[in-house]
Order: sequence, then C-alpha cells, then structure tokens
Amino acid sequence: MDFGLTHLATSTDELRRQIAGIRWFHQIDLGNGIVTPGHDKSAEKLPRIGLPDDLRGKTVLDIGAWDGFFSFEAERRGAERVVAIDPNAWRVPVGPDNPWSGQEGFNLARRVLGSKVEDVDIGLDELTPERIGGFDELTPERIGGFDIVLFMGVFYHLPDPLPILERVASVTAERLVLETHADLLWLRRPAMVYYPGTELFGDDSNWWGPNLPLVKELLSAHGFRRVEVVHRRSFPFRLARSIRWRLKGDRFLAQQDRLVVHGLR
Ligand SMILES: C[S@@+](CC[C@H](N)C(=O)[O-])C[C@H]1O[C@@H](n2cnc3c(N)ncnc32)[C@H](O)[C@@H]1O
Repeated sequence: MDFGLTHLATSTDELRRQIAGIRWFHQIDLGNGIVTPGHDKSAEKLPRIGLPDDLRGKTVLDIGAWDGFFSFEAERRGAERVVAIDPNAWRVPVGPDNPWSGQEGFNLARRVLGSKVEDVDIGLDELTPERIGGFDELTPERIGGFDIVLFMGVFYHLPDPLPILERVASVTAERLVLETHADLLWLRRPAMVYYPGTELFGDDSNWWGPNLPLVKELLSAHGFRRVEVVHRRSFPFRLARSIRWRLKGDRFLAQQDRLVVHGLR
C-alpha cells in the first residue's frame, strides 16, 4: 500500500519514532519504505484468504481487526465502507497484564494512510444487524449488515465460540471469510479439540481447534447456502512441517493447520 505520507503533518523521523513506540501485530506498508514491524506476516496471508480483488460498492466488517491490515486492504480494493472492530485488543487497558498497544497501531496507520475505515466499539456478543448498522433495510435476501465479513484468527481464541459465530453470521449478507487454527484434520466426523491452559503453542488465549467438517456444518447451520474451502494444505505438507518443528524442539501436529473457509449466502 502506498498512500504516501501526505496526510501526515509529522516528518518521516517523527513517524518512525511513533511507530517504534507501538507494539505492532500487523506489518502494514505505510508508504515511503515504511512497514510497521508486526510479527505477523500479514501480506503473505493475502493469497490464502481469497478476499475478492474488486470490492467496489461492497461493505466490509473486519472482526478482530487489531492494527487493521485487512481493513485497510479492503478499503484499498475499493470497498465503499469498512468497519473495524476489536473489543479484545482495543478495550483491554495497556499495562503489566497487556504488553500490546491497544488501538494505537490502528489509529496511527489509519492517519498515515488517510483511511476512512471506521472503528466501532462493540463486543462480539453484542453483534446484531440492528446494532452494527451498515444496511438500509433487512429483507430475506439481505439478512445481515455487511456484504463481506472477515472473521480471521479469532474463532479459536474464543472461550465460547459457537454463540459468537451465530452473531457473526447474523451480520453477514453475502460472504463470510472464516480463517482459523484447526485440528483433527484426519477426522471425518465434525469435532473440535479443547486446549486447557497453554497447551496450544504455549498461549492461554487459544481455546479450540475445530476440524473442517465442523466448520462446514456450522456455516450451513447458520444459513450459508454454499461453503467453499479456500485454503487447506495436504497431509504430506503438514507431516513434513510437524517433523521440522519437532526437530527444532517445538510441537505442531500433522493434524493441525490453518484453514480458510468462505460461507456464501
Ligand atoms: C491472531 S489475531 C488476528 C488478527 C487479524 N484478524 C488477522 O487475521 O490478522 C487474533 C484476534 O483475535 C482477537 N481476540 C482474541 N481473543 C479474543 C476474545 N476472547 N474475544 C474477542 N476477540 C479476541 C484479538 O484481539 C485479535 O484481534
């Protein structure tokens, strides 16, 4: 993304200083060779998630937007309106228990990019078409609030994900982009693994690993007429990766991976 720095009253040095004061999750290209130093390889995820190239005229809701990489990308692809929400990252006070930077990264990137992405302070359990807005009139064809809803990297972090997925579906009018950690990828029955404590990657905010049949079932149950598997990797790839990780002393089982599934109305 290269929107230049024309929206900034600050110099490049000052901008670099501000960027250095933030702990970033996303790597966002702010133009003029400046990319925010997030640990997430954000741009590399783009080919995997199947976000349509042309979003002109579309409304987009980015749930769990964090520093906003995907919100800004949706805007760059022409979306008419983009709303970003992230109650978890943005509401929790920054301090000893939260080493991240709240909404500061999103706000700075939005300012530098001259972006019109809207931020809304709403809990995921409060999402309803009425509350989130973004629609003129509800009809059977247009049951939700946003044409495209991005729900990426969030499902497995939720202690109780099923009611939240129902809420997310209720605000999706056209296409839900669901990206998640997944487990039990060999199993044909719909199922989900529960991770007590820090079992998954040493992170106690990781709760669940659904498998693909479960994700498909849930999306169908929430009224998505078509469910497309946009990204999954083969068993040989996953096995090779699990061996590589094991040799490094880490654990990533061959039955685990990331999945991208789209639900279409
Ligand atoms: C791995 S990041 C994904 C960020 C972004 N959507 C992406 O795909 O790059 C996880 C996101 O889930 C959110 N999250 C984590 N735990 C949550 C919770 N209990 N409730 C709501 N959101 C949560 C975080 O705030 C963060 O935005």
